[in-house]
This record gives sequence, structure tokens and C-alpha cells, in this order.
Amino acid sequence: MSVLSGKHVLLGVTAGIAAYKAAFLVRHLVKKGAQVKVVMTPAAKDFVTPLTLSTLSKNEVFSSFTHEEDDNAQWNNHVALGLWADLFVIAPATANTLSKMAHGTSDNLLLATYLSAKCPVYYAPAMDLDMYKHPSTSETFNILNRFGNIQIPAEEGELASGLTGKGRMAEPEHIVSFLENDILKKLPLRNKKILITAGPTYEAIDPVRFIGNHSSGKMGYAIAEAAANLGAKVVLVSGPVSLQLEHSTIEVVSVTSAEEMYKAAHKHFPNCDIAILSAAVADYRPKEVASEKIKKNDSSLTIQLEKTKDILKSLGELKKHQFLTGFALETQNELENAKSKLKKKNLDLIVLNSLKDKGAGFKADTNKVTLIDKHNKVQPFPVKPKTEVANDILQYIIHQLDA
Ligand code: CTP
Repeated sequence: MSVLSGKHVLLGVTAGIAAYKAAFLVRHLVKKGAQVKVVMTPAAKDFVTPLTLSTLSKNEVFSSFTHEEDDNAQWNNHVALGLWADLFVIAPATANTLSKMAHGTSDNLLLATYLSAKCPVYYAPAMDLDMYKHPSTSETFNILNRFGNIQIPAEEGELASGLTGKGRMAEPEHIVSFLENDILKKLPLRNKKILITAGPTYEAIDPVRFIGNHSSGKMGYAIAEAAANLGAKVVLVSGPVSLQLEHSTIEVVSVTSAEEMYKAAHKHFPNCDIAILSAAVADYRPKEVASEKIKKNDSSLTIQLEKTKDILKSLGELKKHQFLTGFALETQNELENAKSKLKKKNLDLIVLNSLKDKGAGFKADTNKVTLIDKHNKVQPFPVKPKTEVANDILQYIIHQLDA
């Protein structure tokens, strides 16, 4: 899966002959799974039609501050457009637009959007070779790069003037690879290996029955996806759940019982940098597992249980460089209990969720957590979708690792 998948890419098209290649660029970005919106300068419409770009992007194309054809003219909100974007790519970027960007001129929608955008801005210059070499253009690049914009180098070749040299807009495929590489190298968890446990465990009573719990695995799977999106190499040790992963790079180790989860977690822990144990591991299992199906001969049945191994605690005892995170699901004295688990299991962080909280718990798509670190710093969060909770947890860990 591309790092561009699901990203909101705003493509700015300016008035250069390479604008016709914007159509291919939109196509490539959409193929990578990005959501694309296009903003054009008015003059760019002479080179490529908004209809082409809106058809390919499946979104309306913006080029003026108002909807011209509408009697009750509506404002095209450059601020909303800028905030929508995860990345803004200006390709082709003419000398004229680049110079205006460098000096804060805002006389069209694209430039106003550029000034409003908070996301990373990439620009792919496109101009004739002498314009490209001109000292004022070099100065423009210096200013733009100093502002934090990212230049996608122009390529060499035949130019529209018939001259040959540097100044061609990078080919659309090269722009897409440039974006992917740049995003990848800046991901905060790149080069980090993360071990995650998720879901319930099933403890066999006989060949057809087991002791289990209501864990859906949604929280752990959301953490796995979010960690992979942040560049981590993820090993997900999963109990029996019926969830699908989107990220193909996540290594899934499927287990059933607490003992299997223990072995898998121990196998991967020594090489990991971060471990997040979100699984609802059975605390007890039947002491004897019947080899044949138990018949209902008696009026009552007693099954003797024995403790399973505490995976989290055992990893806490082994911990060297790893950042170890556990979960606590509590029904009373929540903070106290969570803090004591954090200490007892030698954790760096514990994620507390209370079954008393509305919107928290096993099967919901939302959760409400409080993070407690080893210095007893407590940070509560509101009810959020589990995907967002996953990001909150990972951002907290990234922050702690950087501190
Ligand atoms: N955990 C584990 N192995 C177990 C039991 C729990 O790794 N055998 C982990 C869970 O994945 C979770 C944390 O320990 O991250 C908290 O589990 P919980 O069941 O709430 O706490 P316990 O320590 O088992 O205490 P109690 O059941 O008494 O609340």
C-alpha cells in the first residue's frame, strides 16, 4: 500500500505547457489511493481543461474565488481547501507563480490557498532553461525552500521552446515517487519495530468448547494499522478475531490460547523497540483439557482452572531498551489500579479504559482512554473512534521516545 493511500492531495496547476501532464499526475495519484482536488490559476485553463481534471480526480476543480456560473455566487473557500490538504503539490510551478509564492502575493485562488495551507507544500518547477538558470529564479527557490517548501527537481530534456536543457517539469511518475519517498523518510516510526498483541484468547475445555471473552481486537488492530501508517514494522500477535487488515506490510501471527500468545510475544520481543499489549488474555485456563467432548451426564460440572502466564509482566521483567505499554480495563478504583499495574509490570505507559465510561470497552468502535506514564503523569482523552485513540497512543509514545 502506498503512503499516499487515503491522503488528501491538493494539486495546484499553473500556466505552463507542462500543465497537460497534470492529467497524468492526477491519474497516478488516484491510482495510489489518494483523494485529489485540483486548484488552477485562471491562465492554466488555457493549457488543460478543468473538465479533464475534475473527471480524473472525481472532484470539482477550483480556479476562482467564486462559482462564476452560479447566480447566487458562492465563495470558494481557500482556507478550507488549504486545511483539507495533507499535502499541496504545485505542478507545474511556473516562474511567475513561484515568485509570487516567495513574496506573499495572493492575487488568485491558488496563491491564497498556498498562503492558508498548513500542510507540506511541494513544487515542481517548469520553465525554459534560461528562465530556470536566472539568478532571480535561484533566489526564488532559496526563499521558498527557506520557508519549508519542498522542491521537486526539474528534469533535463527537450523544452517547449525547442531548446534542450534543465527546466522540464519532473515526469508525473517521478513526482509521485518523490512524494512517496519524502513522506516515507519523514515518518516518525520508520526503522522502529513494534510488537502488538490483540484480541481475546480461547482456553480449551474440550475439543469443542472454550473459555473466552468479548474482546473484538478492534483497538489492537487500529494500533497496528496506525503504527504501520507511521512507518513502523509491525508484528501483530492476534487472538481469534474476525477483522481484516488494510496494511499488507503488517506481519500477523495468529494464536488461539494464552500460552501460544506468550510464546509468540516472547519470540518477537527481543528485537522490538516498542511493545503494546492490548490483548484481553484469559487469566485462567482449564487445568485439564478433555480429549473427548464432555457429555452432559451429570447435573453439574466443575472445571478446575489454573492461572495463565502474565505475558505483559514477563516482558516487563525482560525489558531492556523496549518501550513497554500495557492496557488496564477497570471497573472500580480505576486510576489506582492502573497505576499499580504499571508499577507491578514494570511498564513505561499504561492505557486505562473504564467499563463504566460510555463509548468505551470491547466491541465498540470508540474508546475513552486515560494514559498514565511511569512518572505517574495522567492524561485523559475524550471518547473517540478507536482509529484516533490508536494515533493518540502512538503520538504519546513518539513524544516520550523523543524526550
Ligand atoms: N495481560 C497479559 N497476560 C495476561 C493477562 C493480562 O499480557 N495473562 C496484559 C493485557 O494484555 C493488558 C494488561 O495485561 O495489557 C492488563 O490486563 P488485566 O487483565 O486488566 O490485568 P491483570 O494484571 O490481569 O489484573 P486483574 O485481572 O486482576 O485486573
